[in-house]
Amino acid sequence: RTKKLDFHTIDHLIEAIKTSKNILVLTGAGISTSLGIPDFRSSEGFYTKLQEQGLDDPQTVFDLEYFKQDPSLFYSIAHLVLPPEGSFTPLHGFIKLLADKGSLLRNYTQNIDNLEANAGIPSEKVIQCHGSFATASCITCKYKIPGETIFEEIRNSELPLCPFCIKRRQKLIKEIEALDDSEQGISRHSFSFLGSTVKRSYAESYGVMKPDITFFGEDLPRVFHDNIIQDVKNCDLLLCIGTSLKVAPVSEIVNKVKPEIPQVLINKDPVTHTEFDISLLGYCDELIVYLCEAMGWKIDHPKVDEL
Ligand code: OAD
Repeated sequence: RTKKLDFHTIDHLIEAIKTSKNILVLTGAGISTSLGIPDFRSSEGFYTKLQEQGLDDPQTVFDLEYFKQDPSLFYSIAHLVLPPEGSFTPLHGFIKLLADKGSLLRNYTQNIDNLEANAGIPSEKVIQCHGSFATASCITCKYKIPGETIFEEIRNSELPLCPFCIKRRQKLIKEIEALDDSEQGISRHSFSFLGSTVKRSYAESYGVMKPDITFFGEDLPRVFHDNIIQDVKNCDLLLCIGTSLKVAPVSEIVNKVKPEIPQVLINKDPVTHTEFDISLLGYCDELIVYLCEAMGWKIDHPKVDEL
């Protein structure tokens, strides 16, 4: 950014949070770690752990092409990223407070834990840039079901299969079995012939369900594209919280915001590839509770008094 703002003290930040009308809050895994949910890239993060267990490129667990060939890798670890029921953090409580005060333009979250809903942030104020576990779709026929339908299988590290595709396969098998011997031979042959020419992957052949979280190789949900351009234009303060800003296109939001708009990072570790007017380094729950106290605001969360 060429334009330097006179915006570098805690007082500047407090004043901006108090007076801004259209705050864009961009969040990542770091806002949920105080609940024991690991982030991805910290030393104790999810990818780091997978790497220690011998997976060279841990991002392959969220790679669409890899999932199609071998969905079992994702389902062997998916239970570790299943959303916890009911809970949220003081930081989520802060975003809800901004919404209550009418100054939250939007919360763009990269998180798939859906804790924004637990905190009571209105759904129209939240954009789940990387989707969520709220629904799941069949990789073959796109049949959509409520996400919790497959939670039990996820917890047991099993492959959830599409009920629709299972029925279709059973029907096809019955039809083949009903044919007389000479016809069966031809049908079986054309059935496998069809399979091989279409070149379906393992997951596609069996109709494996996939939670509607955005994998590498997939486009972001439509709601992201429908809102981001206008929101970037309209925001008057950008707060990036608990994210390493390593994954595009969400990471690019920062550079799209007008240079005269204050940009703030609240994160445990520094983010050096992007320039912020203020970087507050530390645990986001503690920092936000400190800022709210200084503003005379109270976050509605049982842990606030302990911080
Ligand atoms: P990362 O793990 O890349 O970054 C999380 C950031 O949060 C790190 O920079 C930590 O320093 C910081 N952090 C951790 N705990 C914190 C705390 N208590 N207070 C403040 N900061 C804290 O996670 P994301 O940036 O969210 O994609 O990663 C982006 C995407 O990469 C994710 O959405 C995920 C992954 O591939 C999908 O799940 C599809």
